[in-house]
Amino acid sequence: MAESMKGLKRTHRCTELSGANVGEVVTVMGWVQKSRNKGGIIFVDLRDRSGLLQIIFEEGTDMNRFVDAENFAKAESLRSEFVIAVVGKVEKRAGAANENLATGDIEIRATQLRILSEAQTPPFPIEADSKTKEELRLKYRYLDLRRPDLQSKIMMRSKVAAKIREFLTNEGFMEIETPILNKSTPEGARDYLVPSRVHPGTFYALPQSPQLFKQLLMCSGYDRYFQIAKCFRDEDLRADRQPEFTQVDMELSFVDVDDVIEVNERLLKTVFKETIGIDVPNPIPRMTWQEAMDRFGSDKPDTRFGMELVNVSDVVAGCGFSVFTGALENGGSVRGINAKGQGEMPRKKIDALVEFAKGFGAKGLAYIAIQPDGTLKSSFAKFMTEDEMAALVKAMDGENGDLLLFAADKNKVVWDVLGNLRLEIARNLELLDKNQYNFLWVTEFPLLEWDEEDNRFVAMHHPFTMPMEEDLPLLDTDPGKVRAKAYDIVLNGTELGGGSVRIFQHDIQEKMFEVIGLSKEVATERFGFLLDAFKYGVPPHAGLAFGLDRMVMLMVQADSIREVIAFPKVKDASCLMTDAPNIVDDIQLEELGITIVAQEEAKDAE
Ligand code: AMO
Ligand code: AMP
Repeated sequence: MAESMKGLKRTHRCTELSGANVGEVVTVMGWVQKSRNKGGIIFVDLRDRSGLLQIIFEEGTDMNRFVDAENFAKAESLRSEFVIAVVGKVEKRAGAANENLATGDIEIRATQLRILSEAQTPPFPIEADSKTKEELRLKYRYLDLRRPDLQSKIMMRSKVAAKIREFLTNEGFMEIETPILNKSTPEGARDYLVPSRVHPGTFYALPQSPQLFKQLLMCSGYDRYFQIAKCFRDEDLRADRQPEFTQVDMELSFVDVDDVIEVNERLLKTVFKETIGIDVPNPIPRMTWQEAMDRFGSDKPDTRFGMELVNVSDVVAGCGFSVFTGALENGGSVRGINAKGQGEMPRKKIDALVEFAKGFGAKGLAYIAIQPDGTLKSSFAKFMTEDEMAALVKAMDGENGDLLLFAADKNKVVWDVLGNLRLEIARNLELLDKNQYNFLWVTEFPLLEWDEEDNRFVAMHHPFTMPMEEDLPLLDTDPGKVRAKAYDIVLNGTELGGGSVRIFQHDIQEKMFEVIGLSKEVATERFGFLLDAFKYGVPPHAGLAFGLDRMVMLMVQADSIREVIAFPKVKDASCLMTDAPNIVDDIQLEELGITIVAQEEAKDAE
């Protein structure tokens, strides 16, 4: 039976008490972590979001140290997760101090107990480092969220967000909210759509980011905007992707690349220092996109370890191995990585790497395993002369005991394959130290990317990104070569954030739309409001957005962003706790003028 807390007021959270409070009468409230009845004396570990505190119930007549028979009987009935209120006196622990507990040297001698809520046995224990499957934990997320390790991550998230707000506010940024119900402007990921009741047959789109609105705010003169903004993208989920996620979004007027980078370097330095005590270098190293691809095969390189890519195209040109020469003839390249000291990797493991490479589009993976005695085991030696092999080994800095892996294909494939292979080998060899925080700016991204499916250029970042001035003439002659004033901030191989300087000149914007095959009509239909705004006086502006979930994930060294989101979705974008998305009532559909076509019928109709 639930009792009321009438007349009681919580005085402390569990771990707000310490030896300094000995002798005080306090009131604590929380959940029963554990209760042990030692016959005549009951020990209860009380838990709240701050941690644990030991309470002792003993029956007696001295109401300064004991509970009466009725309260003792209640204490005997306590079970895990009951919610209780306890009044008692803080004492030094009678037994040995528990060094694992912040409050390990004190205990509360209860004089009063109220059971505020009883609890069923939870489907899994409320404890750190849970062994329970994630699906079950997500179904009962409200219980999962009681676990101390998850609580500390969620609390860290709150702290990080608070620090960011404080920093940006002090820097003169204004927090302005932008709408969630928007016009659909498909470009990038798929939109989440919301049907309109008032205008049947029409839809709002949830924002993929506040991009257009923050640019409009610059047109309106707010000059430094930020928002901790929910964004929605209907894309395939991964460990670092959710359908709804949070951006720390910002935009600044009268700035260029270096200004955005400078303020964000200070933001990162302040936030990482004041939350997890990590010193972020200032300045953070920068690398152009081209260099990142050439050295790491990735636009978000993990620089915590080497194993860099080596372009051996020149070395193998004219060799006897047609896989290599064929790739070169097709305009591709041959590149390799050197897995130092892995020359004796068993064949099975090498085969697994080949399969892994194929998952990224490789047609194969050629290797040279240099044995400790210097002999070569190789998948393609039979096509090569001894000199050609020696030249290749030399180019790769191959030493006895090394494993050299090569991919030959179009640049894009080679980079992707070796970039990912490099990470896979580092993971297998446990080269990745989570305590090391390697930040990197990647700059000068290509403005455009060729879309094989659509047979057209698409904006690599978004169509409002400014080309580098010196590359402007290339827009007409060789658009694929144009570099953008776009930058990403990368942490340990994860894209933490990205942004760009925006186009504010009408003619360049028109050219951009033209290059990505967006007709004037379509551009006006989609972005007319932004283009119009630009006609009334637009300041040069630039911005950036961090993925807050990713930032906190790396700060607390979690493996997935689900660990730092209170109520995350799973891989198929559903919520295991609420069962969203769900079927809605016919009447709701009717109001919206929506008819659901059953999947089978839809197929028949095709
Ligand atoms: P971008 O698309 O690069 O830029 O997004 C910015 C950052 O948001 C994070 N992020 C995600 N996090 C979790 N789940 C997702 N599905 C997801 N998608 C993106 C990443 C990414 O770096 N408007 C521009 C920013 C700008 O130009 O100012 C934008 O949205 O950490
Ligand atoms: P094959 O002659 O097909 O037996 O290939 C010889 C070796 O070259 C094998 O180890 C293949 O995995 C490898 N190989 C095949 N295609 C490629 C490629 N595009 N890049 C690198 N290695 C490849």
